[in-house]
Amino acid sequence: MSGAHPTDIVVLGERSYPVLVEAGAFEQAGAILKPYARGGRIVVVTDRDVFQAQGARFAAGLERGGITADGIVVAPGEGTKDWSHLARLIDDLLARGVERGDHIVALGGGVVGDLTGFAASILKRGCGVIQVPTSLLAMVDSAIGGKTGINVAAGKNLVGTFHQPTLVLIDPSCLDTLPERQLRAGYAEAVKYALIGDPAFFDWCERHSGALLAGDAQARLRAIRTCVAAKAAIVAQDERDAGGRRALLNLGHSFGHALEAETGYSDALLHGEAVAIGMALAFRLAAQRGLCPPGDAERVERHLAAMGLPTRPSHAGINASGAALAERMRHDKKAQGGILTLVLANGIGSACTDRSVTPDELAAFLDEVQAASG
Ligand SMILES: NC(=O)c1ccc[n+]([C@@H]2O[C@H](COP(=O)([O-])OP(=O)(O)OC[C@H]3O[C@@H](n4cnc5c(N)ncnc54)[C@H](O)[C@@H]3O)[C@@H](O)[C@H]2O)c1
Repeated sequence: MSGAHPTDIVVLGERSYPVLVEAGAFEQAGAILKPYARGGRIVVVTDRDVFQAQGARFAAGLERGGITADGIVVAPGEGTKDWSHLARLIDDLLARGVERGDHIVALGGGVVGDLTGFAASILKRGCGVIQVPTSLLAMVDSAIGGKTGINVAAGKNLVGTFHQPTLVLIDPSCLDTLPERQLRAGYAEAVKYALIGDPAFFDWCERHSGALLAGDAQARLRAIRTCVAAKAAIVAQDERDAGGRRALLNLGHSFGHALEAETGYSDALLHGEAVAIGMALAFRLAAQRGLCPPGDAERVERHLAAMGLPTRPSHAGINASGAALAERMRHDKKAQGGILTLVLANGIGSACTDRSVTPDELAAFLDEVQAASG
């Protein structure tokens, strides 16, 4: 990588890669990506919203380094992570003459990153992918770690691969064009790192997250770098999510996925919003089972609510029964033999996995939450 110093390295032997986090990185994109552009061209996959908001700026940054962007623009939204869009993207990439050693740039949020990463991993038995995340969620989470995939009728992210990127390039200044609701949803994934293992970062979040949402560049840089370092360390320890630390990144996700399924993976509930509800529920359940001080669960819920995030299913208009939600959770891909591994917590900054909650207990807990919100 020329022209810039990495902020972090995801250490994975021969699959190690740098993560660069720098405001203004887009302006240097050409110099940074030069080694990955064949014949001065590189294919950039993005979605329509990102194309409108950041496409010209990113292309100009590439041009400055003598690289021409060959753009593929997909429709924005979770619906794009499906078989039909994957097939179309593969055909578009083949039509552009992409070869096995080539690199494809994924410029966008988690949807573009997951879809493009998946396409790159299967095209010609594996092309390189460079993740250029533009949403806060993608910057702090999905662009790092190599999980790719699409949603199928049976559920979210059920088809995919592990395919580590060659490079992750993050320019926090592109958050200036991200819609506020998306920014808040992405913040849920950022504060997750604090809740999993970094209580000092949670203190920081309580004091500075208002500035982060309001556009403070320093606060954004600090938060993104903290999350990138945490994710890089976790992925280095447990690349394939094989029962180690990486499982803790699922804090809030088992609940969250059930809620997303309930709303049909629609804009009614964004992924980060579902995770926010899930994290509040995980802390509440942990407190109820005597794992975590009740005061910590209240503090988590208070902070998420202060950031404008939902913390109960009813906040997203979901009034499904506990049994229905628990049944959805039983089909989560983290369930083994029907027993769910939940990520709970012993306190703020101390997440743990738990396999002791039965479906009936889960259903009763969710009914209680629903009744208390009704
Ligand atoms: N691979 C992983 O490890 C991982 C981890 C977490 C989440 N995910 C996946 O990520 C997806 C959610 O990602 P997301 O929240 O980024 O959603 P997204 O990709 O749909 O992006 C959200 C919206 O913001 C727009 N957008 C993004 N950046 C913008 C910018 N700078 N300016 C203006 N508009 C911008 C997009 O066009 C889109 O409309 C889900 O599919 C989820 O499953 C994957």
